[in-house]
Amino acid sequence: MTRFYVTTPIYYVNDVPHIGHAYPTITADAVARWHRLLGDETMFLTGTDEHGLKIQRAAEENGVTPQEQADKTSQRFRDAWEQLDIANDQFIRTTEKRHHVAVQELLSRAKANGFIEKGSYAGHYCVACEAYYIDDDLIDGNNCPIHERPVDWLEEDNYFFKLSALESELTEWLNSDTVFPEGKRNEALGIVKLGLDDVSISRTSIDWGIPVPWDDGHVFYVWYDALINYATAVGFGNDEAEFGKWWEQSHHIIGKDILRFHCVYWPAMLIAAGLKPPKQVHVSGFLLLGGKKLSKTGLTQIAPADLVEDFGVDGFRYHFLRDVSFGPDSEFSYEGMVSRYNSDLANTLGNLLSRVATVVTKKCDGIGPKPNPDSPLRPIAEQSYRDAAVAWDQFQSPVALEAVWNLLRETNAYLERNEPWKMEAGSTEVATVLGDALEVLRLAAILASPALTRGSTAIWQTIGLSGSPEEQQLPAAAEWGQYPGGLAVAKNAPLFPRLKVEDAS
Ligand code: MSP
Repeated sequence: MTRFYVTTPIYYVNDVPHIGHAYPTITADAVARWHRLLGDETMFLTGTDEHGLKIQRAAEENGVTPQEQADKTSQRFRDAWEQLDIANDQFIRTTEKRHHVAVQELLSRAKANGFIEKGSYAGHYCVACEAYYIDDDLIDGNNCPIHERPVDWLEEDNYFFKLSALESELTEWLNSDTVFPEGKRNEALGIVKLGLDDVSISRTSIDWGIPVPWDDGHVFYVWYDALINYATAVGFGNDEAEFGKWWEQSHHIIGKDILRFHCVYWPAMLIAAGLKPPKQVHVSGFLLLGGKKLSKTGLTQIAPADLVEDFGVDGFRYHFLRDVSFGPDSEFSYEGMVSRYNSDLANTLGNLLSRVATVVTKKCDGIGPKPNPDSPLRPIAEQSYRDAAVAWDQFQSPVALEAVWNLLRETNAYLERNEPWKMEAGSTEVATVLGDALEVLRLAAILASPALTRGSTAIWQTIGLSGSPEEQQLPAAAEWGQYPGGLAVAKNAPLFPRLKVEDAS
């Protein structure tokens, strides 16, 4: 049995969910759904990052305790994900007991192996990043390079992690097919090549964190607590056999702002604790609005719910999976979303389905015929599956979906060439053409199901199939010719009615 473990970053609970958070979550969800179709034993983890100064300050501002702040906002993330049909197997919160145990265990092992020692630190600290900066990093002398807001000066006694001792292990890990895309791997290698300083991993200035087990009064620095969530969720510190089973197959999805933490600090911490670094890290660019990172503009007010109202769950998911590639930054545009919805969902897929249903009603008494084993669409369908499988394996959802939409466009062209609506009712010719189109709809319902959680089931039911596309198993279900024929095809209202920009605003 093949196993697959995929994670999203865990989200800070000082802020409410916005589309910058939705994007990595939908990507992880779609990749996990693909692996379930392949029959892999799949674990998909998301959750919330609840400790640290940032949360403590947000709680103070809101006049609540950090725990109350965390409880309330964590629930908002769960609600947002439910609304987007995110089918995570686990939702972790860093305030859970099991996580305390895992953090203390992992860092105690790193200490026992000689990688943690005491020192003191003074530096510029950005609370929003929960990170120290050196003078050269700052903008205008005193502003954080990410948030463009003033940094604080902090001085404290800390425990230090001896990152500098692990340069060669990190270089080896980075050189072995671990970080994607290539440009991001080079960026991580560049950080290591510049030379690594030891990093401070504990704080005495706050108490909203996980206590350092060997020294009261210190709590672990929030990033060193947060990263360990990926290990906690699959049993680290609690069930070593379970952990061993999943860890070999760990895949992290992250944004480029947290590359240093995931591609340098995290593998180093694992190595220091005598564990294996993650199998793969996939790094996305930012979603930008007017050239600015979404979470820096006032438009973090774009809650996923607002867009779901306009585009539906499928329209929302499809847009991010089809239009945002892993790696480069990508400009978010409402008009772009409308035009993608209209071209791919309303026109290519929606029209194909309603056309086929209409002609089956008129020319075949509403009963769908069988596909032709020698259909000209067959090789295109086979290629489409192969391309989609490679692309999902590489976390390239735009390429995977394009492979399916190429097949749909070819099928529309096939109908236009053959004009079944002009053929004689009940003839072999009309049955051949429509059987082929129905088979493509069956295949598309399965292959698009990681993106279209609702539309694919609707297609499945419209063409008379029982069960659901999610229950099918690849690669067998992708073989041409399994639409059985003899099924009642329903003529329903359009699946994806066309949108006008003014409708949607
Ligand atoms: N809590 C840390 C992650 C800890 S993981 C062990 C964190 N949280 S966050 O809520 O600020 O951001 C989580 C993720 O959302 C990051 O990968 C970040 O890149 C992503 N995004 C937040 N805004 C984004 C965009 N505008 N565009 C794309 N991703 C964005 O960092």
